[in-house]
Amino acid sequence: MTSSPASSRTEVRQVCSEPELREAYDLLQRELELGENHHRALDYYLERLDQSPELMIVALSEGRVIGALFGSTQGDHVLIGEVAVASAWRGRGIGSRMLAELEANARRLGQHRLLLGSLEDATGFYLGRGFEPLLFLFVAGEDHGRRLTRVLDLLLAGREVLWRQDGEADSRAIVSLDGLDEELRVRVEAELGEGSAGYLFRKDI
Ligand SMILES: CC(C)(COP(=O)(O)OP(=O)(O)OC[C@H]1O[C@@H](n2cnc3c(N)ncnc32)[C@H](O)[C@@H]1OP(=O)(O)O)[C@@H](O)C(=O)NCCC(=O)NCCS
Repeated sequence: MTSSPASSRTEVRQVCSEPELREAYDLLQRELELGENHHRALDYYLERLDQSPELMIVALSEGRVIGALFGSTQGDHVLIGEVAVASAWRGRGIGSRMLAELEANARRLGQHRLLLGSLEDATGFYLGRGFEPLLFLFVAGEDHGRRLTRVLDLLLAGREVLWRQDGEADSRAIVSLDGLDEELRVRVEAELGEGSAGYLFRKDI
């Protein structure tokens, strides 16, 4: 495989210091427009720097962070939380290299599954890297459990329910799909009422 001169000058590896992690998080915040209340704040990753730095990948050019991919272990899988490449560097294979690095590290840690939620624009990127789409359903409000069951029976019958959690305030489920199905997603979301249906992506490694 050949690589362009630009990509061969780019180093992709796990994060190696706290200042580097901060620089990478700044990039993610900027490129993904993460708000103040983003649920995986800088502190979330700072706490994991000693335990699992293998799951925080950076791309560097001339010592500056130009891409970052941050994951963390969640039970039996690795959740890829945030991924971004600085806009001037996109489309040169850097995102793919960061993903490959994370995958190799996750395997070395004994993990067998990667999971992520994707921004709408990046679904093509994950599908092209061997991920399969799943549907994540979230229902809140009155009778949330019963409403979730109804939608599963009505619109998603016959599909595998991979996970379900019924809490006090909401119910959630993950259902398998045969591929991206925007028509189905929109119908499910409309039927859920107070709730949402969005894609998740999974890759077994
Ligand atoms: C998505 C992103 C991380 C990909 O990184 P990248 O370095 O540009 O990706 P690569 O150069 O490795 O691209 C690899 C492939 O994905 C495709 N691709 C990249 N971004 C894509 C996108 N937004 N939609 C569809 N395909 C995309 C490329 O065309 C390329 O396809 P090919 O190998 O079949 O030719 C980067 O474009 C980015 O930061 N986007 C904005 C932020 C974002 O959407 N982050 C993801 C949040 S879930």
